[in-house]
Amino acid sequence: MLDDYLRANLASWDEAVGVHLDSQMYDVAGFKAGKTSLHFIEIDELGPLVGEGTTLLHLQCHFGLDTLSWARRGAVVTGIDFSGAGIATARALAEELGLSQRATFVHSDVHHLPEVLGGRFDVVFTSWGVLLWLGDLERWAEVVAHFLKPGGVFYIAEFHPYALLLADDSTPDSLRIGYPYFMYGEPQRFDEPGDYADPEAEVQNTVTFEWVHGFAEIIDPLLRAGLRLDFLHELPYTPEGLPFAFLEVCEDGLQRVKGHHHDFPLSFTLKMTKAG
Ligand SMILES: C[S@@+](CC[C@H](N)C(=O)[O-])C[C@H]1O[C@@H](n2cnc3c(N)ncnc32)[C@H](O)[C@@H]1O
Repeated sequence: MLDDYLRANLASWDEAVGVHLDSQMYDVAGFKAGKTSLHFIEIDELGPLVGEGTTLLHLQCHFGLDTLSWARRGAVVTGIDFSGAGIATARALAEELGLSQRATFVHSDVHHLPEVLGGRFDVVFTSWGVLLWLGDLERWAEVVAHFLKPGGVFYIAEFHPYALLLADDSTPDSLRIGYPYFMYGEPQRFDEPGDYADPEAEVQNTVTFEWVHGFAEIIDPLLRAGLRLDFLHELPYTPEGLPFAFLEVCEDGLQRVKGHHHDFPLSFTLKMTKAG
C-alpha cells in the first residue's frame, strides 16, 4: 500500500515542477538574477555553520533552488529528491548558473538513499513541506544520521504540526480541528485542484497522501539514531506557502493566523548534532 501512496505523491510532484517553474512564488527569474530562495530563518540559524567548502546534503530538494542557494554561499552541496523532473531541472539550473562544480543532484527516494549515495556530510538540511510526504520517520532518521559526519549538524525548518490540524474552513474566530494529530501510520487522502504555488493551475495528478507527524514522532527517532538536541524553536509565523484561508500575509512577507499574530504556532526549526 505504501508504494501506492508514493506513486500518487510522485506523480503529483513530477507535475508540480513545471507549475512551480512558472510561478511567482518560486520566482525563478529572480533566483537566476542572484536572489536567494532561503528565508531569514534558516539563514540566521544555519547560515553561520555553512561556509566555503562545507559539505551539505539537502533532502527533498525539489528543483534545487535552496540547494543552489547554499552553494552560492560557498557550500559543496548534494540535493536529492524522488522526482525525476525535479532533479533534471535542478541539474539544468546548476549548469546554467555555473554551479555544477559544487552542486550534485541525486534522483532517489529518501528512504533508500544509502543504496545510491556514498559519503558523509558536515550538514544535513531539509525544509518547508517535507515531513508530510514521509510515512516512516524511523527510516528517515536513520538516513539523516547515516549521512552525518561525527559532529555534523542536522537542521530542519518546517510547518508546525499543530498548524496542519486545522480544518480548511476554519476562520480566525473559529479555529476548528479538522485533521488528526495521531495518525498511527495511516495517511490522509487529499484530492484537490490547483497547486499551492498557483491555485489556478490546471493539474491532472490531484490525489496525494499526507501524514501529520507530532514532535515526539519527529524527534524521538533522531535521538535514537544518535543525534543530540541543540534546539527546538516554535514560531508564530511561516514563510509564504500554506494555502489556508485563516492565514494572512503580513507586511514583512510572513504568514500569520488572522487575529492571532503572536499566539498561534505555524512553524518550527530543529537543530541536532551527531555524537562524536
Ligand atoms: C514541498 S517540497 C520541498 C520544499 C522545498 N523547500 C522547496 O520549496 O523547494 C517537497 C519535496 O519532497 C519531495 N519528496 C516527497 N516524497 C519524497 C520521498 N519519499 N523521497 C524523496 N523526495 C520526496 C517532493 O518531490 C518535493 O520536491
